[in-house]
Parts: sequence; C-alpha cells; structure tokens
Amino acid sequence: MTGGTVAGSATLCVHGGTPPDPQTGALVPPLVQSTTYAWPDLDHPPAITYARAGNATVEALERRLAALEGGGDAVCFGSGLAAIDAVLRSLPDGARVVAGRHLYGGTTRLIRRLHASRLRVDEVDSTDAGLLEAALGSPADLVLVETPSNPTLRITDLRRGARAAHAAGALFAVDNTFLTPLYQRPLDLDADLSIHSTTKYLDGHDATLGGAVVVHERHAGKGDSPTGPLAARLRWIRKASGSVLAPFEAWLTLQGSKTLHLRTREQWATAARIAAVARDHPAVGRVHYPGLAAHPGHSVHRGQATGDGGIVALDLGDIESAREFVSALRVFTIAENLGATESIATHPASMTHADLAPERRREDGITDGLVRLSAGVEDPGDLEADVAQALDLARRQRREVVA
Ligand SMILES: Cc1ncc(COP(=O)(O)O)c(C=O)c1O
Repeated sequence: MTGGTVAGSATLCVHGGTPPDPQTGALVPPLVQSTTYAWPDLDHPPAITYARAGNATVEALERRLAALEGGGDAVCFGSGLAAIDAVLRSLPDGARVVAGRHLYGGTTRLIRRLHASRLRVDEVDSTDAGLLEAALGSPADLVLVETPSNPTLRITDLRRGARAAHAAGALFAVDNTFLTPLYQRPLDLDADLSIHSTTKYLDGHDATLGGAVVVHERHAGKGDSPTGPLAARLRWIRKASGSVLAPFEAWLTLQGSKTLHLRTREQWATAARIAAVARDHPAVGRVHYPGLAAHPGHSVHRGQATGDGGIVALDLGDIESAREFVSALRVFTIAENLGATESIATHPASMTHADLAPERRREDGITDGLVRLSAGVEDPGDLEADVAQALDLARRQRREVVA
C-alpha cells in the first residue's frame, strides 16, 4: 500500500508501503542485514551495491513514511539531526536559511555552530506570522520551523509560512516530530519537506535513533545524484557522508510504526488529563500545552492539526521546585527522550536545551523551572496521580523551605 492508495491512517500504519514480501510471502518486511551485494559481472551492478548506498529494509520504512505523510518519497537517516543536517548540506554555499527561533536545542546548535560559516542564517520567531513574512520579504533558500516546538509547544502557522517561503523562493521545511503524520500533514498544507526524528513517536519504544525527510512527488528522485531532484540529492549526501540508518533500526521502526495510531491515541488523551491537573495546581506557574484555549497559537494549531500531542511542559517557577517535582515522580522516568511507551520527565535547561545561552533560554520561556512531560502508555490514572502527587510534594517542600 503506497501514498497513492486511498486508505485510512491506521491501515497505513500497519500496511503502508510494505506489501507481503514477493519472494517469501513474509508479512513482516525482511531484515536485510548485508553490507555487500554480488555483481554478476562488471557490466551489471546489482540494484544496491553497498549498505551506505541503500538497503531494502530502510527502503521499506521510507515507503511507509511517505505513505503516512501523503508524500511522494522519503529518505531516512541515522538520526533526526542527521536528516536536518542533510537538508542543510543540500543548499549551495552562501544560501540564506530562515530558521524558526523555537526549535529543538540540538537543531539550533547544528544550524548556528556547524552551518553558520557556510550558510547565511537568520533566526526569526516564526510563531509571529508577521515577523516571518517580513523576514521573507527578501529572497531565501530554506525556511525551517517546528510546530508544536520543543519544549514550549509554540505554534507556527504552516499555511502562511509556506506561502511566504514560496514567495521568497525558498523551500518550506517543517519538523513534524511532535505530532507525527497522523495528526499533522505539512505537505498537505503546502510545505515542501516534512522532517522527523523517528527516534520519538514513530519508533515509540526508546529503542532506536533515526530520522527522515518526506517530500512531495515533485521533489522525488530515484537513485542518488548530487544535482538531481531534492530526494536524490539527499540520498547522495547520505551516501557521501555516511549518515545512514542501520537496517535493524529501520526494521524496529517499521515494527513500532504499526501501533503508532494506538499508542498516540492513548498518549494524547493522557497528556490532556495531565494538562488539566497541572493547570489547576497551585505549584504550577504556567502550563504549555496546545490543547488549552489559552495557549498561544491554539486556534492556528487547531486549524492545521487534528490532535494536541502527548507533551505537556510545566513551569514550576525555579530550579529547586523543578528538581523536587521530578525527583518525586514514581512512574515517569527522568530522561531525555520523548514519544515512547515509557513516560518521561525532562528538564530542558539542563538536558535538551543546555547548549543555549541561559539568557536566550529565559527569553524563549525555557526557564530553570520548566519540566517537559512525555506521556507514555502506562495507565492514564497512574500517570495523572503521579503528576498530582509530585506537584503536591514539590509545593509542600518549597513552602517549608520558604517558611
Ligand atoms: C523536534 C525534534 N527534532 C529533531 C530532534 C533530533 O532528533 P534525534 O535525537 O533523532 O537526532 C529532536 C530530538 O529531541 C526533536 O525533539
């Protein structure tokens, strides 16, 4: 079943891009764990010659992701950052990149530290559509945004962003990791690239690192070429730089993606419950969750997405309260990942966004008191109760310290 076939998203999770293996009838796509492929003679190379140039299991995952996103092609990489890196490498020297200000910390580090000397990078608060449009008053080559963003779940208007990017001659790229293709399809809203850290919901089991770029048919390109259509260039960059996704990681991600619809349905509902508990709790100064009517960009979000996601970020005011809260959690684990079966609590200021200057973090709402919660698939009641008891405890301890 491919992107062109009419099918519901749950059906695509299970079957998208992976018909039974034509040779064996295997329902589960075979794990092809070979680096090396035989040539019958020097004039007839096999379709795949070497594992850095391609792999059948990775291609199966690429077909699945293209089907889920409604795209024409997908290219997988060894991590989400490797996928974004390849997109940046596909630009010519001196190209102008307009990067959203609210991005995963590692993405900002990649753009500002690794690519700043080769590319002209302008950072813009893309959550203000007027600012983004003004920045795109002059020509650009690539616009990259993340919505909802990590970790404060800021919203960028994708339709307006795509229009402004195209008017400036730029490709419009959206990091769609937080909502997955099931709840937001940037390509349908005229973006050119939908990017994923498959490490998160698509794998969903805290077991693999991976990334993907999904593009429209107009950017699709078989094989790899340094000058061909975008997908072919991305494959060439992957081959040239070695940023490949390993076959076993692709195989696990394919298996994980089969239950994406079931896991996320549960995780989204639990996150809404946690957001409601936190909103009404006196220990919490601010709740970041796009499903709340008071969340900045809520109506734009609801106009472009069909779900609110499984992440809630709570601002507890200061580092001590954040420390007490996460230490009091019993079901949530303190860790860096998100989107998996295990519920995870992250402290962005000391983990995912530690490389941003403290001032910049504060300006962006990534305070020392901010804790990001990723709802897993444990009992929703257990998770809700866990957050409530940890908030109670954090509040009691802070009051004792202050008194
Ligand atoms: C939104 C987003 N994009 C990209 C990445 C980078 O992905 P990876 O860790 O797979 O390199 C992350 C990682 O947390 C992320 O949250």
